Amino acid sequence: MYNHFFDFLQRSISYKAIEQKQTFMNKNYLALSFILLVNFTAVAQVNVTHLLCENKINPIGLSVTQPRLSWQLSSLKRNVMQTAYEVKAIIDAASGKAGKEVWSSGKVSSSQSVYVTYAGAPLQQGVKYKWQVRVWDNDSKVSDWSPAAQWQMGLMQPSDWKAKWIEAGYKEERALHPIPIFRKTFSAGKTVKSAIAYITSHGLYEAFINGKRVGDLYLSPGWTSYNKRLQYQMYDVTHLLNGGKNAIGVMLGSGWYRGRLATAKNWNLYGENIGLLLQLNITYKDGTSETVISDESWKTSMGAIQYSEIYDGEIQDARKEQVGWATAQFNDDGWSGVQVKDLPKQQIIASESEPVRKQETFKPLKIITSPQGDKIIDFGQNLVGWVVVRLKGHAGDKIVISHAEVLDKNGNFYTKNLRTAKQQNIYILKGDNEEIFEPHFTWQGFRFVKVEGVEGNLRPEDFTAVALYSDMERTGNFTSSNPLLNQLQHNIEWGQKGNFIDIPTDCPQRDERLGWTGDAQAFSRTAAYNMNVHSFFTKWLKDLAADQLPNGIVPPVIPNTIREYAAGAAGWADASIIIPWVLYRAYGDKKILADQYSSMKAWVGYMQQSSTGYLWNKGFQFGDWLFYRPADDLDGRSAVTDKYLIAQCFFANSVQLLINTATVLNKKEDALQYSNLLRNVKEAFLKEYITPNGRLISGTQTAYTLALNFDMLPENMRAGAAKRLADNVASYNNHLTTGFLGTPYLCHVLSRFGYDSIAYKLLLQESYPSWLYPVKMGATTIWERWDGQKPDSSFQNAAMNSFNHYAYGAIGDWMYRVMAGLSEDEPGYKKIKIMPHIGGGLTSAKAALKTYYGNASAGWELQNNRLTLTAEIPANTTAIIYIPAKSIDAITEGGKKISDNRDFKIVGQEGKYVKIETGSGNYVFSITDNGLVKKF
Ligand code: BGC
Repeated sequence: MYNHFFDFLQRSISYKAIEQKQTFMNKNYLALSFILLVNFTAVAQVNVTHLLCENKINPIGLSVTQPRLSWQLSSLKRNVMQTAYEVKAIIDAASGKAGKEVWSSGKVSSSQSVYVTYAGAPLQQGVKYKWQVRVWDNDSKVSDWSPAAQWQMGLMQPSDWKAKWIEAGYKEERALHPIPIFRKTFSAGKTVKSAIAYITSHGLYEAFINGKRVGDLYLSPGWTSYNKRLQYQMYDVTHLLNGGKNAIGVMLGSGWYRGRLATAKNWNLYGENIGLLLQLNITYKDGTSETVISDESWKTSMGAIQYSEIYDGEIQDARKEQVGWATAQFNDDGWSGVQVKDLPKQQIIASESEPVRKQETFKPLKIITSPQGDKIIDFGQNLVGWVVVRLKGHAGDKIVISHAEVLDKNGNFYTKNLRTAKQQNIYILKGDNEEIFEPHFTWQGFRFVKVEGVEGNLRPEDFTAVALYSDMERTGNFTSSNPLLNQLQHNIEWGQKGNFIDIPTDCPQRDERLGWTGDAQAFSRTAAYNMNVHSFFTKWLKDLAADQLPNGIVPPVIPNTIREYAAGAAGWADASIIIPWVLYRAYGDKKILADQYSSMKAWVGYMQQSSTGYLWNKGFQFGDWLFYRPADDLDGRSAVTDKYLIAQCFFANSVQLLINTATVLNKKEDALQYSNLLRNVKEAFLKEYITPNGRLISGTQTAYTLALNFDMLPENMRAGAAKRLADNVASYNNHLTTGFLGTPYLCHVLSRFGYDSIAYKLLLQESYPSWLYPVKMGATTIWERWDGQKPDSSFQNAAMNSFNHYAYGAIGDWMYRVMAGLSEDEPGYKKIKIMPHIGGGLTSAKAALKTYYGNASAGWELQNNRLTLTAEIPANTTAIIYIPAKSIDAITEGGKKISDNRDFKIVGQEGKYVKIETGSGNYVFSITDNGLVKKF
């Protein structure tokens, strides 16, 4: 086969350009071409951008002693690789010895541009460092030094805390009780150079300095397994301090610490008293410093917030507000002293994941009066956060804002599916001109609010819904020619936004909102496309390991609020293994595997120990949660899958991922030992769950999907099993019947075994059960159940019917990875795979992803029997691209046959694809092979 590939990575663009130009340019034009070339080369220099430290832009409050640095190369040229780098880091002017170099890596020959480990002088508590990098490319050109980025160290160990735990001195349990507020005044005697606040709490906090809010984070310090890991936040508050007298004020809410969690029984899960730990380090211009800490000198009282609880909402009485309570002028004579508690600090850690911040805002789409006479606002989107209201009225007027996800079939406000969660915020006015209310230590899942207590018509300008969620970067974008699919993608994204509130929750509205492991693992691959969930899950996995039981069992919710109930179920506990592996594949981070390795091993160890003859067939199982069950099932069409068959599949998958992990970590003995275990687990599966004719004992879509996806069957049985799966789908008239565990893999398995057309039929199915049925019913998020709302608009069982549950959104992974065809060929997208699966009668699909190397995308478009395939490959990566075409000659790129273009290595034909390899650049392939196109 004609193959033009040569090692483009060593070649210079000038050489390439001259060669190419020579082939088609008349010699007379050579001089002109040379001039153009010189200009082009000058513009086309590589630049270094997007500097990240520990996956974040300019992070503050690090405690890692060797942060990892990443950057991107940007260039207009194709096939750009980094051949060497140089990093330097200095102490920033704000931190004293300005300009002092702490690290200079020298020129390091390496293509590594992600996770380069800092290897300079020891990093100091509270110090800010600036860093820059420059790179050499495969043209031997050196870039300019990048613009400087920075990171700032936090308190590095528990002994760095000088502050003392303080509490208000009363226990509040379940009762309707105002939340405590705390204050302290102090003098800043000299000119302040910098002021850094470190804050954490038992419960949730909001802090103010001189009346101004500290930072823009919400629900801090976030949720972790508090007794083992409690995060603090670090804030640069230099700008908030005055010369002379200053005041700090802090409010505390019960939050996850002692509020109601999961069931009414679980109050005070971590303790009965909420408390504050705060340390303010002030450095003066003259080099001296001072520390203000939480201690016995603080005072406490109560303010406007009469009650605040996660599920039920918040009650504020503006008449009780102590105006100016967080300013220095305020007279606190009537306030009480605080109690200082000698509580442990060794579990306090720096924050690792993105904090919760306010994100999108929504104005009312419609204001309606329901048949029952309620005044209801429709915000048009099921979202998670709260409503900010602007009110005018008399002192004592009471406004009640209730929240709901849906209206019932008659158009009335429907809250039964919230179970015992009140989701209600109440404001009592003080009678000022205009009063603005929003809650602090609660949040609601809603699209609709019912407003009581406002006379006359509601004015849209007085109500703003604010979405709150962890401030993860949006990395993915999926679009297609089908508007219903685009709405599905929208719903998947909003399922993620509403349920990634510091931890991955099952749902954000009813009396649950817990870190269900099964839901999280099912959705994790899709989540990693839509947003950068690297730090978010890294933090949560540490809580998973912390809450894992000594025998290796992983509790079903993390942080563990339900003790040993339902612990160790297949597909739930496996989050301990599946999610680290997902993160490694998506972000190329080996450290996550190393950090979680013992937790991963412990879970496999548990399954192994509770197996008999390698068959894991004991203990509690959720099974394929929420699988298809028709009412009054006389035909036996319910898709019940044997729970232990499922368990054996997940057992094998976890062992396989552990083998992969051991191999990445170079633990050869472990890899060998687990390979033996895997063989036995699969053998046990075959003996127990499959007939000699290749029929699984449960003939469901989930059974065949899992057995095929996890390679449980020998090669020679797979095609037959895939056929049975395809037939099963057909027997349900092209409807899926899978629950939480089968759904994520269903379309993947169909595509893998050549049934793209069936995968598309399932994806595009508009009647129940399907992904588009809720879309057709007007959903703006993913529902917990395939039929949360029935075609006649009645609802499923209110005891379990969330309209914001991301698990079934796991189809997003197939849309990005298979349909548009963008995935990682090597971990972290160092090598990218593009392999579109065209079909379903669609005319286009495109996936774009911000990787750590830069933007990658894959898109296809069909027009007049011509297929266009676009690809964007970031610098310092390579790609393998599968182009749907019958022959190489049918493909052109940029108007030229690819066989004539030396940017590509043509690997050959593979099935219905031509396979090529290339490096960075933007590519537009045009395919004219009509014979193939017609088949789509
Ligand atoms: C949650 C689920 C969870 C399940 C366990 C439910 O209450 O909302 O999403 O995975 O319990 O089966």
